[in-house]
Amino acid sequence: MSDPSATPRILTASPDAVAEAGRLLRAGKLVALPTETVYGLAGDATDERAVAAIFAAKGRPQFNPLIVHYADAAEARHDAVFNETADALARRFWPGPLTLVLPRAPNCRISLLASAGLDTVAVRVPAHDVARAVIEAAGHPLAAPSANLSGAVSPTSAPHVAESLGNKVSLILDGGPCRVGVESTVVGLSGKTPAILRPGGLAREEIETAIGPVIEDDGSEDAPRSPGRLVRHYATRLPLRLGAVEPRREEALLAFGPSVPSGARDMLNLSAAGDVVEAAANLFAMLRVLDRPGECAGIAVMTVPEQGLGRAINDRLRRAAERG
Ligand code: TXA
Ligand code: MG
Repeated sequence: MSDPSATPRILTASPDAVAEAGRLLRAGKLVALPTETVYGLAGDATDERAVAAIFAAKGRPQFNPLIVHYADAAEARHDAVFNETADALARRFWPGPLTLVLPRAPNCRISLLASAGLDTVAVRVPAHDVARAVIEAAGHPLAAPSANLSGAVSPTSAPHVAESLGNKVSLILDGGPCRVGVESTVVGLSGKTPAILRPGGLAREEIETAIGPVIEDDGSEDAPRSPGRLVRHYATRLPLRLGAVEPRREEALLAFGPSVPSGARDMLNLSAAGDVVEAAANLFAMLRVLDRPGECAGIAVMTVPEQGLGRAINDRLRRAAERG
C-alpha cells in the first residue's frame, strides 16, 4: 500500500496527528515519532510483522534487538521481570533516557524478533509527551530503534528522519528538535553488577547515585550483552579525526569549548560554554551539517571531556570515526 515514490508525510504532532499515528500503528504500520533522546521508528512491539518491517526499513541486522517503549512503568512490568535494582532505577529515572535490559516475563507479549531471540527485553518509558501519547493511542507498547538507516547518524529532528527513511514510514510526527540528542543509556541487570551496555543520555554518575557502582560493558569480554555495540554505527561520509587540536586546511572543525583554533574550512561548536549536555543535544545535527564530502576532506573533532554525557558523546564519535 505504501507508494515508494510518494514524498514523506510529516505532520506536526497535534492531537489529531497523534490519533492518526495510533490508527496506523494499530494497523501494523510504522510511524516515526519524537522522543527526548532521538527520533524513533515505531511499530507495535507485540506484532511480529510490524517488528519485522522495522528491521527491513532500517536494513538492521536481525541479531540486534530493539528497545520497547511504554507509557508508564506499570505497563512494562507485564513484559519484563524487575528486580530491586530495576525498581530503584525505574522509580528514579522514568520517564527518562534510560533503558533497562531485563528478563522476559513468563507472559511477555513482546515479539521474539524484537528481543532478537534473547531471553531478555529492553524496556524504556520516554520523557516526551508526544511519544507517550502515541503509545497510549496505539494501545500497545512500541518497538522503536532510532529512525535512521542502520549504521547511519541518528535523527534529532523530523527532517533528518525524512532524509533517511522518508518513504519507508507511513507518517513522521514532528515534535521539534530532541532535547537530549543522544540515545538512552542502556543498563543490563542480568549479571552480578549492573552494567552500562551503552552510554547515553543519562549520565553514569547519576545512575551511581541511585544504585551504587556500575561497570561499563563494551561487549569485549565473553558473550557480548548488547549486540548493537558490535555493528558499525553513526557513520558519516567524511572521515573523522578525533582529539584534534588544530584543523588541517582541508578539514571542517567540530569544536568544543571557548577556545577554538582558526583556519578550518567550516566550523561548528558543540558548546562554546564547554557544557557536555548542550554538546550532546547538538552532536548529531552538527555532524550532519559538517558532513559534506564535496567541500571538505574530513572532520576534525576537538576533545570532549569523558564525564557526564561526555561519555555518550565520545562513544558515538569513536564509532563514527571507525572506518571499514
Ligand atoms: O534513546 C533511545 O534509546 C532510542 C529512542 C528511539 O528511544 N532508541 C534506540 O534504539 O537507540 P536502537 O535500536 O537504535 O538501540 C537499541 C540498543 C542497541 O544497542 C541494542 O543492541 C540494545 O539497545 N538492546 C536492545 N535489546 C537488548 C537486549 N535484550 N539485550 C542487550 N542489548 C539490547
Ligand atoms: Mg540506533
